[in-house]
Amino acid sequence: MTDMRQLYQEVILDHNRKPRNFGSIPDANRHADGHNPLCGDHIKLSMNVQDDKIEAIAFEGHGCAICKASASMMTGAVKGKSVQDAETMVEEFRGMSTGTLDPDSADHHLGKLKIFAGVKDLPSRVKCAILPWHTLHAALNSEASISTEGEADPVNDHA
Ligand code: FES
Repeated sequence: MTDMRQLYQEVILDHNRKPRNFGSIPDANRHADGHNPLCGDHIKLSMNVQDDKIEAIAFEGHGCAICKASASMMTGAVKGKSVQDAETMVEEFRGMSTGTLDPDSADHHLGKLKIFAGVKDLPSRVKCAILPWHTLHAALNSEASISTEGEADPVNDHA
């Protein structure tokens, strides 16, 4: 097993067992529900955005280990960021997961999230990893819900 693959598995398992920012924000002013109809999994995101900054963010719901780990790391990565910076990361994560962004280039802000670069070679898992990010995009744009299928498909949108 390569070091990267081993690290990927360890990080996914750790965040799946102990998801960070799991729960809901009591005084949230942004919400969105994300669904993957293919498996029935869903996550619910709540955030408090003040002066264009994500002050608090949390998620709950049910998802596979990749989805949960992606949500856990996503919440940690965007907490304290501006809305614009978070949207940039949404685009970058989508690009990395679908193979249009090279994770080894210096031209992104994904940091530890590079661990998910391998999902681009696992088509059935791309939507698992992207679901939390697409839900974040919906919440930042005051959309109540998104689906990984159909018009709102994050993969198809950027094919
Ligand atoms: Fe449902 Fe991954 S299998 S989100």
